[in-house]
Amino acid sequence: MAGKSWWRHLKLTGHFTIRAGSVNDLTAVYELNRQAFDSCWSYQALYSALESGYDLIVCETGGELAGYLLSMTILDEMQIMQIAVAKQFLRLGQAEAMSRFLIDTSSGVSVILLEVRVSNRAARNLYAKLGFEESGYRKNYYAPDVTGMCEDAVLMDLKLA
Ligand SMILES: CC(C)(COP(=O)(O)OP(=O)(O)OC[C@H]1O[C@@H](n2cnc3c(N)ncnc32)[C@H](O)[C@@H]1OP(=O)(O)O)[C@@H](O)C(=O)NCCC(=O)NCCS
Repeated sequence: MAGKSWWRHLKLTGHFTIRAGSVNDLTAVYELNRQAFDSCWSYQALYSALESGYDLIVCETGGELAGYLLSMTILDEMQIMQIAVAKQFLRLGQAEAMSRFLIDTSSGVSVILLEVRVSNRAARNLYAKLGFEESGYRKNYYAPDVTGMCEDAVLMDLKLA
């Protein structure tokens, strides 16, 4: 099935290990998603995502979760749903390493798609560095913030085939 070939792989970068995640990682993933996102997913939403076939990649060091990447593949299209790195491990290349792990081991995938907040410069730079191109915008895509403002999403894609 497209997008699954990384399941048997393991990548070691310095003190970090990147591997396929499972429900056993979800407690730590849930905590990191709460820290990293203003509007986070519930534990149940993450659990249901894995149950319904989403793929999880985790990056860990010394038994501690450093980051994760959640994606979904339908036929030859992959969507990056979430990527996050814990504050103490930011700017160490781990988001890039997880993304390259995903890209390098995604057999049968012709395009990777994602949406990112217009204001999220760190993520937009990350994706641009990986070769993603901006393909459009979704107006007011994200839920209103405390001031009642909705933020636009930038659509980005990486063509692999
Ligand atoms: C976006 C995020 C995952 C990047 O993680 P990271 O491990 O610190 O990123 P990396 O160290 O792998 O950086 C790779 C590239 O991303 C870009 N980047 C990362 N952080 C950046 C920042 N704070 N400012 C500008 N560019 C940044 C740079 O291009 C960087 O390459 P460089 O180091 O050669 O300049 C992290 O900031 C995060 O978890 N943010 C909160 C969650 C989020 O917004 N996720 C994305 C939307 S789903």
